[in-house]
This record gives sequence, structure tokens and C-alpha cells, in this order.
Amino acid sequence: MKLNIAVLAGDGIGPEVTAQAVKVLKVIAMEFNHVFTFQNALVGAAAIEKTGTALPEQTIAICKKADTVLFGAIGTTKYNEDPDATVRPEQGLLGIRKALKLFTNIRPVIAYDDLSNKSSLKAKQIKNTNILIYRELTGGIYFGDQHLSEDGNTASDICKYERFEIERVAHLAFKAAQTRKNKLTLVDKANVLETSRLWRRIVKEIAPQYPSVKVNYMYIDNAAMELIIHPRQFDVILTENMFGDILSEEASVIVGSIGLLASASIGNKHAMFEPIHGAYTKAANKGIANPIASILSAAMLLDHFGLDDEAALVREGVNKALKLHITTPDLNTKYDNISTTKVGDFIEDFIQNPDETNLNFTNIHLGQSTII
Ligand code: IPM
Ligand code: MG
Repeated sequence: MKLNIAVLAGDGIGPEVTAQAVKVLKVIAMEFNHVFTFQNALVGAAAIEKTGTALPEQTIAICKKADTVLFGAIGTTKYNEDPDATVRPEQGLLGIRKALKLFTNIRPVIAYDDLSNKSSLKAKQIKNTNILIYRELTGGIYFGDQHLSEDGNTASDICKYERFEIERVAHLAFKAAQTRKNKLTLVDKANVLETSRLWRRIVKEIAPQYPSVKVNYMYIDNAAMELIIHPRQFDVILTENMFGDILSEEASVIVGSIGLLASASIGNKHAMFEPIHGAYTKAANKGIANPIASILSAAMLLDHFGLDDEAALVREGVNKALKLHITTPDLNTKYDNISTTKVGDFIEDFIQNPDETNLNFTNIHLGQSTII
């Protein structure tokens, strides 16, 4: 298969982790005889510094022309601490989601047995958790009208949803539930918000089209607690933009590190793959950023194009890295010298030699042996 992939590495740890995902995609292309080409484009603070805008027209054009997009992260402390900045890195990410009409963001939350002691939650509580969050991505309070009064003392953000925006993401979530445990939880705040009541009404209307799927409804405040106490009760979670942002970050606690959570942002025409974590500026260029979320986002990219064996092999490589503790410091207590690049190198080598699972292989990667 030929794929032209736009790479928007962005800010902070974005370039480092994205480089590992690109490395993994390159070796997959080599092993499976695909032709993947990569085209870098500017986004976020990196784009502001060079062009004055977080999402240059050229970047939009490159993404629209490409077969798909791999996204890193955006943001820097400079902007995070300045509420008065009118040009902000986040406009790059929100803008590209809107420009490519990526209305569904899919965020898998899977508890790995090998990491059960890395979560702050009890191992028995999180065991076998496997949730798919369907987050609406181009509507709601993120994209409603914003207003700041002239005297600077009053502000408003409008949360607005139209029927079609809810229907299209809901159908995808129901379809996903059908391929899993046939359970869908709509998370909303229907006891307070009109938009949430619209979500509930529409989901109730759609539900009979998917008779095998059992639907339940949960308020966001309750869901925030249930997710931590009984995560196994969830299969597919469907929710609006901001609730999905918050719940998915909370869910990373179950997995052990936000550096492990990947996502796919899907529209009718385009798709983009991005870790759920941010730019983590403090960690940039130190070699400590976990590349696994980016590498698993690359696996979701492969899934998207029906490259199932390829995606499975990437995930096997990730599992092997986790099992052997070839991981960055956010997860590692065993070795202290495993860098971002080393994790990428290990997974790259695993893809080339999936059977080479002996101890010597581990030692080589830990720098304890030089025999290759
Ligand atoms: C995410 C991020 C973004 C969001 C930010 C960086 C705009 O938190 O992808 O979860 O809120 O959607
Ligand atoms: Mg977020």
C-alpha cells in the first residue's frame, strides 16, 4: 500500500515521540512491502514562531492532500501561563480537527497486566479494563461562540450541538459496541444541560437500530467516580467534546501513564492519529518522554487502512517492551537509562525480529551486551 502521511510533530515532546512512531511506520513499510512517505508540516507554537499563526494555510493544504495525518502535541509553558495571548498553540490542533472535519475521537483505555502495579489504583480493581471512549470532537463548548466583555469582567462560552453532530458520532459508537461487549454508556449532564438532554433523546432514538447493544446513561460527575471505582463496567463510552477530554485523561490513571494512551480522530474523508497527552514542555529534549502513545497511535493508523497484521505486530512490540521493562521513567522502576529513542529502537528491532525474544536481545537493548 502507498500512503502519504503528513507529520505534524508540534511542540514540547511532540517531535521526539512522533519520531519514534515514524521510525516504527518506516520499519513496518519495509517489512510488509508498503511505501509510506512522510511530509512534515508546522503546527502549534512552532508554527507561531515561524509564521505568526498556529495553523498555517500550507499545513492545512498538506494535510488535506495527504492520505492521513500523524500528530504530535502542541503547547508551551509561555502560552499556558498567559491567558491574554490571542494567538495560541491550541488553535493549531482545534483548527486542524475542524478543517479536516474530524468529528469522532476514539480513545482506547486498556489495562495491561504487566503494568498493574504502575497505576495508583488497586490492581484487582483495574484488571481487564478495556474501554473505548468515543469523544465528539468538533462541536460543543470547544467550538461555540466565545465572548469577553469590554471591561474584561464577564466571559461566556456557548455549548451548542446540532442533531447531525450527535447522530454521526453516536452511530459510530453503536457500531463499535456491536463488535465488542455490546454495551454503550452515554455520559452527559442531562439533569442540568439542554445539550445533554438533546444527546439523550437522540441516542434513545437511535438505540433500536442496534438491538444487541445495551445502552445506559450516566451523569458526568457520577461517571468520573465510577470510572475509577468500577472501570470494568464500561465497554464503549459515548460523550460530548469536553466531557470526553476530561474523562479520557482521568482514564489514563487506570492504565498507569498518560504516555500510553493513543487516539484516532476520524471524519468522513480524513483521519488523524494523535497521542492523548499534551506537549509536556518540561520533559522536552530530555529523552524521558514516553513514545508509546504515539507508537500506538501509529498502530491505529494502520488499523484504519485495514493493515491488521501490521498493526498487530506494532502492538506486540509495545507489549514486549512493557513486559521486559524497556520503558521510559514514567513507568520504569527497574532500569533508569531507557530513553525515548531506546524504546523506539526496541520496538523497531522487534518488528524486524519478532522471534528474537531471548534474554540476550533484552541485554543488547539495555546496553549490557554488544553482540548483535
Ligand atoms: C486533547 C487535548 C486538547 C483538547 C487540547 C490540547 C486543545 O487536551 O487532545 O485531549 O482539549 O482536545
Ligand atoms: Mg485532553
